[in-house]
Amino acid sequence: MSVEIRPIEDEDHGAVHRLLTDRWTGPEILLDGQMVDASRLPGYVAIAGPELAGLVTVIKRPGEWEILTLDSLSRWAGTGTLLLDAVVKEAREAGIKRLTVRTSNDNLDAFRFYQRRDFRIERIAPGVIDKERSQKPEIPMRGDYGIPIHDEVLFARTL
Ligand SMILES: CC(C)(COP(=O)(O)OP(=O)(O)OC[C@H]1O[C@@H](n2cnc3c(N)ncnc32)[C@H](O)[C@@H]1OP(=O)(O)O)[C@@H](O)C(=O)NCCC(=O)NCCS
Repeated sequence: MSVEIRPIEDEDHGAVHRLLTDRWTGPEILLDGQMVDASRLPGYVAIAGPELAGLVTVIKRPGEWEILTLDSLSRWAGTGTLLLDAVVKEAREAGIKRLTVRTSNDNLDAFRFYQRRDFRIERIAPGVIDKERSQKPEIPMRGDYGIPIHDEVLFARTL
C-alpha cells in the first residue's frame, strides 16, 4: 500500500495521541527533566489507507530543530526515511542548519537508522534515563534486544 506523508493537522490529534500512547506510554515525553507533550508539536504523519502508518514530531528552536519522536508502524518499508526526509526538507527551507534527535542506549535500530542518514553521535549522557525513571516509572528497565536502559544518546546532523 502506498504511503502519503503530510503535515500533522488538528483533526489528527486523536490518532496522534493514540499512537504516542501505544509507543511511548503517553504523549508526555521527558526532555531535560521537563515533560513535553509531543501530541501538541508540529510534524508529519504517514498515512496508509485509513490508518496512521507513522509519525514524526519536532521541536522547532531558533537555528536548531530536534526530532522528539519518530515512529514507523510498518518497519523496514521506507516510512521512517520518508518522515525524516520531510523534516529535513522543511528545515532546510526554513534556513535551519542543524537537526538533532535523542535515543536511549538500547535503541540499536535507531543507531543504525540515524547514522546511515548522516547523523553523528554527539553526546552520551550516562544515567539520564535512570533519573527520568524516577519521574516517570513507566519507563521500562529493559528495552530493545533485552538491553538494560540507562543512558541518553544525542545524534546531530548538519543540514
Ligand atoms: C527507527 C525507525 C523510525 C525506522 O523506521 P523504518 O520505517 O523501519 O525506516 P526505513 O524503512 O525507512 O529504513 C529502515 C531500513 O529499511 C530499509 N528499507 C527501506 N525500504 C525498504 C524496502 N522497501 N524493503 C526492504 N528494506 C527497506 C532501508 O534501507 C533501511 O535500512 P538501512 O538503515 O540499512 O538503510 C523505526 O525502527 C521505529 O519506529 N523505531 C521505534 C521508535 C524509535 O525508536 N524511534 C527513534 C527514536 S526517536
